[in-house]
Amino acid sequence: MRLVLRIGGSVVASPFNPALLSGYADLLIKLKREGHVVTAVVGGGSLAREMIGVAKEMGLEEPEQDEAAISVSRLVAQLLLMKLGGEGAGKVPLSIEEAADSLKDGKVVVMGGLKPGMTTDAVAAMLAERIDADLLVKATDQEGVYTRDPRKHTDARKLDVLSYDDLTRFFDKEKHEAGIHQILDPEAVRILKRRKTRTVVLNGFNPDNVFLAVKDEKIGTLIE
Ligand code: UTP
Repeated sequence: MRLVLRIGGSVVASPFNPALLSGYADLLIKLKREGHVVTAVVGGGSLAREMIGVAKEMGLEEPEQDEAAISVSRLVAQLLLMKLGGEGAGKVPLSIEEAADSLKDGKVVVMGGLKPGMTTDAVAAMLAERIDADLLVKATDQEGVYTRDPRKHTDARKLDVLSYDDLTRFFDKEKHEAGIHQILDPEAVRILKRRKTRTVVLNGFNPDNVFLAVKDEKIGTLIE
């Protein structure tokens, strides 16, 4: 299968979790050796947000703040790539085209952010569209998509399956609530909806969960 794994900065980089990063490197290698086409997009987590704050306090503009965060996400991507050794594509692609190109060599591609004004969710969605992915997995700090923000509402319910239309409806209804927005950003959803990319949102603190999703086991929330 052709896979895009979006690894949340909230999972591997808030704070940095070297064991988990290594666990993801092992997982990516395992999936590649099974014959899958493997790509990953990582975020910069709390360090990225800290850098945005630093840039802001320095009086730098928003695009410049974003550039700082993008650099952090690329640094995390580079760490993963180094751990992948010969199985990895060597360097972090700076565009979707570059990512698609380096996939041709049969290596695992790992990237971070691309340009100011978007999120790594959107990058993952664009990559999924470009490489015609069979599956996008978002490894995050929640068990999946909830009806409401689970951190704020005790009556929040985890959804097992969700259609893209349902998800869009949720966005409209819960416009002022961060929960669902945080789990997959609306721009990413807009892109994924175009070809109804099969997407699973799951708890990323255990890389085995990603393996289960690839094996089509019931885990997290399936969006299709
Ligand atoms: P994300 O919010 O996408 O990554 O990027 P994350 O840290 O993995 O997120 P969580 O913790 O899993 O939810 C962090 C910030 O970096 C900038 C944006 O400011 C974004 O909010 N960024 C990232 C860009 O401007 N462009 C990109 O392509 C990626």
